[in-house]
Amino acid sequence: MNKIEVKKEIQQRIEKLRSEISRLRNAYHVENAPSVTDDVYDSLSRELKSLLKEYPEFNNESSNENRVAGKALDKFVKVNHKSRMLSLNDVFSFEELEDWGNRMKKLLVTDKVNYFCEVKFDGLAVSLIYEDGKFFRGATRGDGFIGEDITENLKMIESIPLKLLPPIRQGEGRGGVPSYVEVRGEVLMSKKTLISLNKKNEKEGETIFANTRNAAAGSVRQLDPQLAKERHLDFSAYDVAEISGINIETHSDKHELLKQLGFPVDEHDAICKNLSEVEDFIKKFEKIRPDFKFGTDGIVISVDDLKLQETLGVVGKAPRYMAAFKYPAERATTTVKDVRVNVGRTGVLTPLAVFEPTLVAGSTVSKATLHNIEQIERLDLRIGDTVVIQKAGDVIPEVVEVLVKMRTGKEKKFNMPKVCPACDTKIEKKEGLVASFCPNPKCSAKNERYLDFFVSVFGIYELGPKILRRFKDEGLITDAGDIFTLQKEDIAPLERFGEKSAENIINEINLKKKISLSKFLWALGILHVGEETARDLAQEFGTLEKLISVARQDLASSEDKISEIENIGPAVSKSLHNYFSDTHNISFIEKLKKNGVSIEKVEKKKAGKFNGMTFVLTGALATMSRELAKEKILAHGGKVSGSVSKNTSYVVAGEEAGSKLTNAQKLGVKVLTEEEFLKML
Ligand code: IVH
Repeated sequence: MNKIEVKKEIQQRIEKLRSEISRLRNAYHVENAPSVTDDVYDSLSRELKSLLKEYPEFNNESSNENRVAGKALDKFVKVNHKSRMLSLNDVFSFEELEDWGNRMKKLLVTDKVNYFCEVKFDGLAVSLIYEDGKFFRGATRGDGFIGEDITENLKMIESIPLKLLPPIRQGEGRGGVPSYVEVRGEVLMSKKTLISLNKKNEKEGETIFANTRNAAAGSVRQLDPQLAKERHLDFSAYDVAEISGINIETHSDKHELLKQLGFPVDEHDAICKNLSEVEDFIKKFEKIRPDFKFGTDGIVISVDDLKLQETLGVVGKAPRYMAAFKYPAERATTTVKDVRVNVGRTGVLTPLAVFEPTLVAGSTVSKATLHNIEQIERLDLRIGDTVVIQKAGDVIPEVVEVLVKMRTGKEKKFNMPKVCPACDTKIEKKEGLVASFCPNPKCSAKNERYLDFFVSVFGIYELGPKILRRFKDEGLITDAGDIFTLQKEDIAPLERFGEKSAENIINEINLKKKISLSKFLWALGILHVGEETARDLAQEFGTLEKLISVARQDLASSEDKISEIENIGPAVSKSLHNYFSDTHNISFIEKLKKNGVSIEKVEKKKAGKFNGMTFVLTGALATMSRELAKEKILAHGGKVSGSVSKNTSYVVAGEEAGSKLTNAQKLGVKVLTEEEFLKML
């Protein structure tokens, strides 16, 4: 054989190895039916690797075997999601599930709804983009609009294909693989991996993760892909957000397609013809759940037909056509050793029950919230009592019941302190609220909590609570505003820091100085102004200055103007007025700006396409109820009226339209068929 022939043979062998490994990979991760033992797979992989080392010209970067850890990054780049990554509305009982079903039925014209049930994984949501069949980019969910590019880390997850397989209904791209695909799914760590990771970390004095979700999220957000590789993460796909050239009609279709493309999809899924079948599915999986490989917190139920999904649409940040059934919280018993009082970022005092570390819902907890003094009185909880605690998903554990029969008589009553445990200031009670709070703006506990909250909203992940405490103790910062003037030279000399970590911290701070108005408002920690409300305010006012000038007007006029905004009520407007009328807060904002925080202006939402138009609906529509049609018109800025006049822009006429149609014709108002109306929408 001459050299060329030898090479040809090698190339053939490489290609054979590649396709066989690819097939075995699919059998293992997608079909869940490994056809050979791990040794065989590893041995073939080793041969391929060594051949490619010798003949690098046959390397193909996008091949599945090519999971070489890239270089560590010094920051994550932000990416805009093409379509928003939504959340789910939760239901906690079969009753709530049925209410959800009934609400939908009222909005639809058909009674025949198929539901699709699947496992709700407890991991980290990601979006994966494939171009011409090759894994192009992966990102975290972030706030749903903007996530972080974690491509390099995701490439280290074996069960994420680097190259797609051609589906049976072929796409328009080369080799039948669709040219553009966006898949969504969950990055996971198995329960088994978590146990061994925690064992190892404990020995090495590293972080112990409370649950599989934290471990998965922490591993995928490492700047060094090598670390992500060592964590043995998994992936399960649950949605096709976009695919070019292939028409999909149902959610179950999406799952089938995902499998064909080479993604692992959980096998516990099913189409149910009605909610009673859904309930059976939920009960059946509840039995499997404790032994399931991954952490789960419920079942996701979707209306299967995508046309019906579109009709039902999205409200706020969750689709109306999907619901997450959450399994009941898990419970355990323990003995209360003490009751401590925690000061939150707004100064509210929360009593906590402290006990020996106890295992509940897959994680070890040693504290549970008692909410407030009224709750303690309601439970009649005493120190030394045996109590029932419960925990659901990521919710803070709580005490739900005292086992009074277990008392010995030595239990002690608890009283709320009269002064703040952190700063000794006299505790106050707000009118109409059960909570006690510390009114001192300089309270150290309150400020520490606020600092933690502030950096997490700004996304300055390098500054965890421990580091912040350290900087405070060293006198480097006194409040959140000081973070932005930190210098590398301040941090590097501190014990356990050094040049590299100082540089990472400073780089991240500089990167996060630019912030959207909605995040900035949220980060201020104004009472009642959470993430969603902050977004509504930003959208409405566009700039901080405008909001401040309205909020600082006298209470009555500021309340009037702010309460006019959709979704915003008097509690929020009052709180905004109070916050911005306080000069301390204004100086804090000035300080942030002076230190380099820059707030991005918000482009006002484009005016709705039905702005200034009035619609009248008559007759029965075939694809949606009148109620839903009305909602859609309103959402686009239009109005809906009950009677036709010369000011009516359009009359939408369904089946058996009555006098309104005749009136429209008399007045010369334009009449739309349902089809024309849908087109306009
Ligand atoms: S569907 C509409 N399906 O749950 C957006 N989500 O609470 C929801 N999740 O961010 C996507 N397993 O991280 C869907 N089988 C599943 C899921 C699932 C876990 C997570 C996902 C999402 C969150 C919403």
